Amino acid sequence: MRRFVSLFFLIGFLRIALFAGEGMWLPLLLSLNEDDMQSMGLKLTAEDIYSVNNSSMKDAVVLFGRGCTGAVVSDEGLLLTNHHCGYGQIRNRSTTEQNYLRDGFWAGSKEEELANPGLSVTFIVRMEEVTEQVLEGLTDSTADREAIIERRIGDIEASAVEGTHYEAQIKPFYYGNQYFLIVTEVFTDVRLVGAPPEAIGRFGNETDNWMWPRHNADFSVFRIYSGPDGKPADYSPENIPLQPKHHFPISIKGVDEGDFTMVYGFPYQTQEYLPSYAVDQILNLEDPLRVNLRGERLEVYDAEMRANDTIRLMYASKAGISNGYKKWQGRMRGLNRNESVEAKQRYEADFMARLSANPEWEAAYGDLLPSFERLYGQMESPLRQVIFFNEGAYGIEAARFSFDLFGDASTWPSASEPERDSLKMKMLKRGRNFFSEYKAYIDEQVAYNILLAYIQELPTGEQPEIIRSMVNSWEENEVEEKLRKYVSDLYNASYFTDSTRFKNLVENFSLTNYQRDPVFGLIVSMYRSYATAIGKYQPLEAEVETLMKRYMEAQQVVFSDRNFYPDANQSLRITYGKVEPMEPRDGVFYETYTTLDGVVAKYEPGDYEFDLPQKLLDLHAEGDYGRYGTDGKLRVAFIASNHTTGGNSGSPVIDGEGNLIGLYFDRNWEGTMSDIDYDVNQCRSISVDTRYVLFIIDKFAGAGYLLEEMTVVE
Ligand code: ARG
Ligand code: GLU
Repeated sequence: MRRFVSLFFLIGFLRIALFAGEGMWLPLLLSLNEDDMQSMGLKLTAEDIYSVNNSSMKDAVVLFGRGCTGAVVSDEGLLLTNHHCGYGQIRNRSTTEQNYLRDGFWAGSKEEELANPGLSVTFIVRMEEVTEQVLEGLTDSTADREAIIERRIGDIEASAVEGTHYEAQIKPFYYGNQYFLIVTEVFTDVRLVGAPPEAIGRFGNETDNWMWPRHNADFSVFRIYSGPDGKPADYSPENIPLQPKHHFPISIKGVDEGDFTMVYGFPYQTQEYLPSYAVDQILNLEDPLRVNLRGERLEVYDAEMRANDTIRLMYASKAGISNGYKKWQGRMRGLNRNESVEAKQRYEADFMARLSANPEWEAAYGDLLPSFERLYGQMESPLRQVIFFNEGAYGIEAARFSFDLFGDASTWPSASEPERDSLKMKMLKRGRNFFSEYKAYIDEQVAYNILLAYIQELPTGEQPEIIRSMVNSWEENEVEEKLRKYVSDLYNASYFTDSTRFKNLVENFSLTNYQRDPVFGLIVSMYRSYATAIGKYQPLEAEVETLMKRYMEAQQVVFSDRNFYPDANQSLRITYGKVEPMEPRDGVFYETYTTLDGVVAKYEPGDYEFDLPQKLLDLHAEGDYGRYGTDGKLRVAFIASNHTTGGNSGSPVIDGEGNLIGLYFDRNWEGTMSDIDYDVNQCRSISVDTRYVLFIIDKFAGAGYLLEEMTVVE
């Protein structure tokens, strides 16, 4: 409550204190924030951060792959991002002899750097507002509005990059009230240079994930290559290290409480301006249901992984679903604690009161909130079914495999003999991949849990036909027993739960046999009810989108004293704040930093999350941190009040002078509601300190030669 009241009634000097941290700003409009930033400790100008004509900080920030951020740190294209962002590459470059996840990897020279097919980094060449060109002459009710917009966007994008090697994309901001053209340069030869062992880069793993205090060095090192002409080129031995327009100097001067921090990166998505009905639906339907259904899977995985090392390796990446699972739990707690729905309701009451006082506004926006109420009400039932399919049915591995393979299998009847042979080969190969990382007895337990949830938690009218008719004949008190028998029969009979049966299916292929398979039959029935649900859901969602455009505009008009930053949409943003401690709950205080002592204190020999390499223990015992140490300690991670989200991972954290002081990699659990409701009292970004990064590279890995090309500021 307090926060919203503040927004409306407090002005002037108070604004800074209240807004500290909140907001993801467009770098090209940063001059609007310049005063605020400078008053917090920025020594530079908005032009230093983003310049259209000169090289600036933005030229050292890249979109890494499709979902992370990276920071350029040398004039030879050296790049830092998170370990969890480079994870796929580190794993894929590993071989049976060389396990780089476990042991780490350090290229001794440029020749030893490892190419990564499919990986790209994207630089922003320029951004420009194109709202006029996109929306000119259109009203909200113009016929074919969407098609016209799409055509115009295509035209503007094409002409923006004509005759260049650049790429262009136009993104909507403020739900389509504004459009920006983003011109990019995409490099596709990006090589792995170094990574610490997982025991350091991912130390604390799932237990520590989303948590403060944090003790891992979540970084990896890559290098961007260009063709000999300096332009993007696919991998070739002739390629040369990229000469970037800008690279970040790396500071080891240290960062402390109260210091200005700025995070520059590509946040993926936030939803700060939703109506209360939407927040209510997220809090009371979506998040609990997702958590519940993922929990059914994770409970089984976790028990089996703890019991058996082979299973642990096999299911490690499948257990990656725990990232969202844990985040949504934190978000629910945060939204409840902040009474975010009630706060939105009060905000809406104020909004309506302002409309009543202004006939023009009333006429333009009076329908919005009642329409949201109606639409979110109608969305509830189909949404529940959609989530059940995505998080439930699709989480049953054999069912999913049979469902996904059907695309190939269904081409059988029309295929020629030779095509059939290669189709068989293809299906066998997919089968080998699937079964090499599959245990039917684990999947069977998951299937049981998910089906029980379908039976017990989905209203009968929303259940897939196959389940409804089956359960119809069961007595209430025999559901569990009958279900167990049903699932067990299913798993004993299906082609998709056993590699030998699967091979038989393919070798003597018949599409009829495939379609008669009981596991396939189950997911098809589940899919049918999903398809009906999504058919109802999507038009409602589209209506909400249209309303959101007007509601966004309405909020900006009606609360014209408030500064509305655009929701994150994976475009380049700046968020600024300070290194600030936090009080997550009564009596608990979060210090702003952690140290290597804390890493060692968590050490548990042999544990898969908290084991440590002997070398690091030795370095700690010697306690000689050289120039990376501070008062005899080695700082590891720090928190700050920057407003960040997924996609910011790997983002440079920059001090008031433009030096790199850390790499962002996570948020604190209590603050994960910030995607919907940021609260400076509860939300912190978590970053690894550059002193720890350089210490690991230099002292732990003995790769100090990499520091020679960096600009280290002491
Ligand atoms: N929570 C961070 C993010 O959302 C890190 C995830 C990877 N790390 C992990 N221990 N699972 O991506
Ligand atoms: N680890 C997340 C990422 O990969 C960032 C954490 C967050 O969601 O803020 O982008």
